[in-house]
Amino acid sequence: MPLNIPIADFNNKNVWIIGASSGIGEACAQWMVHRGANVFISARREELLHLLVSKLKPLNNTASIHCLSLDVTDENSVHKAVGHVLEVWDHIDVVLFVSGIYTPIRAENFDYQISKKMVQTNLLGPMLVVSSLMPQLLKQQFGHIALVGSVAGYSGLPQSLVYGPTKAALLNFSESLYYDLKPHGISVHIISPGFVKTPATDQNDFHMPALISAQDAANAIGQGLSKGEFDIHFPKRFSLFLKFLRILPYGLYFWLIKKFLKV
Ligand SMILES: NC(=O)c1ccc[n+]([C@@H]2O[C@H](COP(=O)([O-])OP(=O)(O)OC[C@H]3O[C@@H](n4cnc5c(N)ncnc54)[C@H](OP(=O)(O)O)[C@@H]3O)[C@@H](O)[C@H]2O)c1
Repeated sequence: MPLNIPIADFNNKNVWIIGASSGIGEACAQWMVHRGANVFISARREELLHLLVSKLKPLNNTASIHCLSLDVTDENSVHKAVGHVLEVWDHIDVVLFVSGIYTPIRAENFDYQISKKMVQTNLLGPMLVVSSLMPQLLKQQFGHIALVGSVAGYSGLPQSLVYGPTKAALLNFSESLYYDLKPHGISVHIISPGFVKTPATDQNDFHMPALISAQDAANAIGQGLSKGEFDIHFPKRFSLFLKFLRILPYGLYFWLIKKFLKV
């Protein structure tokens, strides 16, 4: 029995993807458009969004593709964007929040300003978007909020001194949101990818176990939404292993992480 309402068919669904200019978000835009969804694609880099629109081919004559630049750390920008989306669409079926930044940080290079930017983008960003859309979602009494977290949110990992806590908080935020929105017919999904090959992970200088492509990630996200899953995590061989690690005693956990990630 799924925790959320399954999306049996994306055809003609209104899907707003935030963070679609590259990586996982771009692949999700392609996945949705191939299934006949109407999409708004957003991020800061407008030129990349236009390039993506030129590559995306709507499945049928009724499907539409719009792009709209926004900065999730800027309140005015988000409020304006939400207003614009709701002028074009009278309802929203799915908001897929993919935006995120990752800067590898360890105690030796702990920088507060970089940390603040990461918290603003990865945690306050989704909170800003969700709070801005809440009146509309509560009015329509249906829809899906899907937030991209990370397996790095499960427990502390090397290089994730700030990134990990932003994703752990997003997981907790999604759980709390689920309780509140379920009675209103609104679904909440937390998406926890393992390593995915994108511009963000190209900067990693360590071995990334179970690395998958952005297309495989988009496929897992689409399938998870279709099935109504709350907890969409992948690839399972890696995400299940990390879920298991977090129930171990700390001594064993730290030893295994060091051995497994070779850092
Ligand atoms: N790749 C992985 O292994 C992996 C694993 C777990 C979780 N994730 C998560 O997956 C999501 C996508 O990551 P990715 O790997 O696909 O990285 P990516 O290619 O760097 O994509 C990040 C997206 O976020 C957007 N973004 C960043 N800051 C923004 C802002 N202030 N306002 C609006 N949009 C902003 C970027 O667009 P602009 O720069 O154009 O604004 C871009 O579209 C992130 O939340 C990341 O934490 C990734």
